[in-house]
Amino acid sequence: VYNSFLKCFSEKTKSPQSQITDNVFSQSNPSFSSVLRAYIRNARFNTSSTPKPTIIITPRSESHVSAAVTCSKTLNFLLKIRSGGHDYDGLSYISDKPFFILDLSNIRDVSVDIASNSAWISAGATLGEVYYRIWEKSKVHGFPAGVCPTVGVGGHLSGGGYGNMLRKFGLSVDYVEDAKIVDVNGRVLDRKAMGEDLFWAITGGGGGSYGVVLGYKVKLVPVPSIVTVFRVEQYMDSGAVDMVYKWQSVGPKTDRNLFMRMLIQPVTRKKVKTVRASVVALFLGRADEVVALLRKEFPELGLKKENCSEMTWFQSALWWDNRVNATQVDPKVFLDRNLDTASFGKRKSDYVATAIPRKGIESLFKKMIELGKIGLVFNPYGGKMAEVAVNATPFPHRNKLFKIQYSVNWKENSAEIEKGYLNQAKVLYSFMTGFVSKNPRSAYFNYRDVDIGVNDHGVNSYKEGEVYGRKYFGENFDRLVKIKTAVDPGNFFRNEQSIPTLKNAK
Ligand code: FDA
Repeated sequence: VYNSFLKCFSEKTKSPQSQITDNVFSQSNPSFSSVLRAYIRNARFNTSSTPKPTIIITPRSESHVSAAVTCSKTLNFLLKIRSGGHDYDGLSYISDKPFFILDLSNIRDVSVDIASNSAWISAGATLGEVYYRIWEKSKVHGFPAGVCPTVGVGGHLSGGGYGNMLRKFGLSVDYVEDAKIVDVNGRVLDRKAMGEDLFWAITGGGGGSYGVVLGYKVKLVPVPSIVTVFRVEQYMDSGAVDMVYKWQSVGPKTDRNLFMRMLIQPVTRKKVKTVRASVVALFLGRADEVVALLRKEFPELGLKKENCSEMTWFQSALWWDNRVNATQVDPKVFLDRNLDTASFGKRKSDYVATAIPRKGIESLFKKMIELGKIGLVFNPYGGKMAEVAVNATPFPHRNKLFKIQYSVNWKENSAEIEKGYLNQAKVLYSFMTGFVSKNPRSAYFNYRDVDIGVNDHGVNSYKEGEVYGRKYFGENFDRLVKIKTAVDPGNFFRNEQSIPTLKNAK
């Protein structure tokens, strides 16, 4: 297979085989394992029993990507596309069928143009690189995307993308002006050439169903020269229930310059099992202003000026990445890709449209103490989010109060321990049923969760796709299916949760 692939790849790229062997790795290549592991970001899928690709291709140019698509199709191999490798369930680098990995980590240029207020960001760049390159050119421009600097542009933007400026600016995809994709026939298409339907699909509908995204042209947003961050914690026996309850009516409604994330975690404190609720916030303004605002709107938080730190927007990104001394840190840390570092983890998601009653919060805390490890993250919506039409992009959850992320990480490499934590996630998800969106119960596509359905791409492909597809995309699923059927009728670009074609629709 390797030799046939190399021959095909060499013919298509018109390069001698000797020049391309550095970018095509068979399992017998001594670098195979390190190339594979570099962007595995969940240790659950980094074990000896995890299925391995037959070949890994690490293209360095558009023509390499184009040849990789055409040659994989010719050899009839499934192609898994990986940019930053942060897929929570590993769909960019595992499969139970024979497969190749197309790893875009070398397609990583970021070019920022302050004069036109825009940037081209390549699929294999990380968000940390994007923020750093903006910071190099301007201290009053930013981009609304995720808070983890090693997340890849390719998966993040094709699946929506949100961060701590979402109430002010909306999603990352609300700022995409152009894109480049390699389609199933190996053609490189920009927005004009791909047409508005396909462009719409790859701004939130997940790139991996339609082609290989090479990069996006995005609009930058204005940020103040000084912003404020703070973190306030309370425990169950000292105000956490009131704080979480009240947060539901303040977080999604307050000034859109303020994003207050709520983290809820069972902990042991002074030998007693309890729950800690923490508000972690970014305010696009000064400390005095946010303290005065929250004294009025949210006294249960008890925010004081000494809880707040003022800094530049770029430093706030470092602070959100758990660097408490953000103003002292070398900005270059955001260029560090932290290769081959991962803990074990599982994520799930839900949306809340109506506030959870106080008694519900109390019972939730009790349940979390009983389970022991799994935590929740509430991300407030409102502001700009609620002003964008639900079909403007494939992301449909614009009008919700907040999103819930279920989150559990662990360090032990043990099947027994893993089973226990995965079960905690399932039990808490089931416990939340009465409090979250229904018909369909919704989920955020970028928080990949195979528990909500997978696709075997056999005769029931459409039906299987509809199960997870409606949860991720609501009514936008139908348009995504039509686009998929038009651009990739043979379903070459597929994975366990890709958009199915209409061929098998009943
Ligand atoms: P990865 O390479 O694993 O790809 C993810 C999916 O996209 C796969 O299905 C893959 O095939 C497909 N894909 C990737 N590149 C493609 C390309 N070039 N063309 C076509 N398809 C492509 N989300 C968020 O919105 N806000 C946040 O703050 C965070 N924070 C966060 C922190 C951490 C630690 C993790 C692990 C994840 C997040 N996420 C997140 C979720 C994140 O947005 C999501 O996992 C993205 O899909 C990751 O993109 P990568 O390119 O890194 O992943």
